[in-house]
Amino acid sequence: MIKDFVDILDFTAEQLAGLLKRALADKALFAAGKLPASLPRKTLAMIFEKPSLRTRVSFEAAMSQLGGHAIYLTGADIGLPTREPVQDIARVLGRMCDALATRTFSHPFVRQLAAHCPRPVVNALTDESHPCQAMADLMTVMERVGELGGRTLAFIGDGNNVARSLAAACTRLGMHFVLAAPAAHELKESFVASLPVGQGAGSYRAVRDPRQAVAGADVVYTDTWVSMGQEDQKAARLKAFAGFQVNAELIRAAPRQVMVMHCLPAYRGCEITEEVFEAHAQTILEEAANRLHFQRTLLNVLIGEGGVG
Ligand code: CP
Ligand code: NVA
Repeated sequence: MIKDFVDILDFTAEQLAGLLKRALADKALFAAGKLPASLPRKTLAMIFEKPSLRTRVSFEAAMSQLGGHAIYLTGADIGLPTREPVQDIARVLGRMCDALATRTFSHPFVRQLAAHCPRPVVNALTDESHPCQAMADLMTVMERVGELGGRTLAFIGDGNNVARSLAAACTRLGMHFVLAAPAAHELKESFVASLPVGQGAGSYRAVRDPRQAVAGADVVYTDTWVSMGQEDQKAARLKAFAGFQVNAELIRAAPRQVMVMHCLPAYRGCEITEEVFEAHAQTILEEAANRLHFQRTLLNVLIGEGGVG
C-alpha cells in the first residue's frame, strides 16, 4: 500500500489507471446521489503557502461531500518556515487529523512531511509537481476519447510543475507527450531520463516549433508562463514565451477534433487567447470540475482504505 500521493511516478500504470477508473465511476455515483458519505468524523488538514481557487475548494468540498471536515491553514497561520521543524508539524497533525494536503514552494518539504507523518500526505502542488492536476486532466481526456494508450498530448509553453506531472502521467499510461518550449524552459534532462518510455510504454519528445507539436495531437495543453513564485521574472518570461501562445492559428495546425486544455488560472492574451479559451471552455471547465471528482476518490482511497494498493 502507498500511504501518500506525492508524485505520479511513485505509482505503477495499474495503480494510476485504477484510480482514474474508480474516479470516473465515483463521479457517476455522485451524480446519481449514490456515493456514500464514507469519511464521517475524518479531518483533512490543508497547509497552503500559495494562493488557490480550485485546489482548496475541491479538497474542502470533497471532504464535506464524504461527511468529513477540512481545516485550511496558510503558511503564515502555522509560522512556516521558521516556527517549528517539518517533522514536528507532520507528527502533530498526523495525530490530530486523518490526512494532510499541502501546497508549498519546496518539494522536499512535502517529501519530509510524508516521511514523518503517520497519516496520508497529498501534494496539492509544489514548484516541481502537481499530480492531482495531471490525474484530473487525464480523467477529462478519458471522458472524451476513452482509452488513453497511444493518444498524444502536446504541451505548449513552460516546462513547469504541471508539465512535469503530465509528462509523467502520460508516459506511465502509454501516451505520447510532446513539449514545445523555448530554450531554457524545457524539462530538465535528468527528469526526462526518469520518464518511463519505450518497451510498449509512452514516449516523450521535445520540439521547438509549437506547430510541429500540435500536428497529430489529441490534446493541446497550456499553462501560465509565470508560475506562482516567479512574479519577479514576469517581463523576461513574457518575452521568452512570445511565439508559444495557443491561438486560433496554432489550433488550425492541429487535428479538427483536438481537445484544448488548461489547468487554470488562464492569462488571456499570454499563453492562450480569449477566442481559443472560450471555444474550448466546456472542456476546460469540466477539467476543473474533475479536480473535485478525482480528489474525492483519492481521499476515500487514502483515508478510508489505507492507501493505494
Ligand atoms: N489548477 C489549480 O491548481 O488551480 P488553483 O491554483 O486555483 O488551485
Ligand atoms: N504552474 C502554475 C500552476 C497553477 C495551478 C503555478 O505553479 O503557478
